[in-house]
Amino acid sequence: MNIILKTERLILRKPKLSDWKDVVEGVGEYGVSKWLTTVPYPYKKSDAFKWISKYIKKWGDKDYPFFIELRSEKKVIGCIAIHYVDKFTKVGTTGSWINKKYWKKGYITEAKIAINDFAFNKLKLERLNSSIFSNNKASNATQKKMGYKFEGKRRRCVGSKASGKIYDENMYGLLKDDWKKARRKLVK
Ligand SMILES: CC(C)(COP(=O)(O)OP(=O)(O)OC[C@H]1O[C@@H](n2cnc3c(N)ncnc32)[C@H](O)[C@@H]1OP(=O)(O)O)[C@@H](O)C(=O)NCCC(=O)NCCS
Repeated sequence: MNIILKTERLILRKPKLSDWKDVVEGVGEYGVSKWLTTVPYPYKKSDAFKWISKYIKKWGDKDYPFFIELRSEKKVIGCIAIHYVDKFTKVGTTGSWINKKYWKKGYITEAKIAINDFAFNKLKLERLNSSIFSNNKASNATQKKMGYKFEGKRRRCVGSKASGKIYDENMYGLLKDDWKKARRKLVK
């Protein structure tokens, strides 16, 4: 299955092994990896190869990890994924990162609009889950902007491999109707 999602400035597409340099640049930055659960620091070429190979193999069915390519530079500047798709409950779980050099330019907002449409319209999901370290300001703000509802906190429940620290986990959910409402405000 080869799914490509296009937005004004971005192309969301399947990972390729040749993307490894962009991945090392993006997720190899401690300012990014310290907010993620399973990414090691320092981050090596072999880590990128392992991660990309795994994603290529399991793409589709339950996992949809899209690399975010910036059209103007033909460069991968991030990743946005839907994982653990359950066909019975119609629930999936999201995760994402953007290369630090490209923060605060609205790229994740743009990518999330595309991936939420894909999740609810193409995969026919009814709900997306999101789990965020409680002190991750950017990510908590992003999910609220996208219409996610805060559903509770689990104390010292999630950890970052890069920092070695354990955090409280903020849990969010986005139902199809929440997305319809949020989309109207985001897309004029
Ligand atoms: C979270 C992240 C993906 C946001 O990407 P981005 O492209 O910079 O986000 P956007 O420019 O689309 O901004 C989205 C919203 O997030 C908020 N935001 C972004 N950066 C922020 C920051 N540093 N502090 C507080 N709020 C921030 C703003 O509310 C913004 O909405 P606005 O522009 O309407 O004010 C990025 O900061 C990142 O990769 N962080 C490290 C990895 C990570 O935390 N991933 C998520 C794990 S759950």
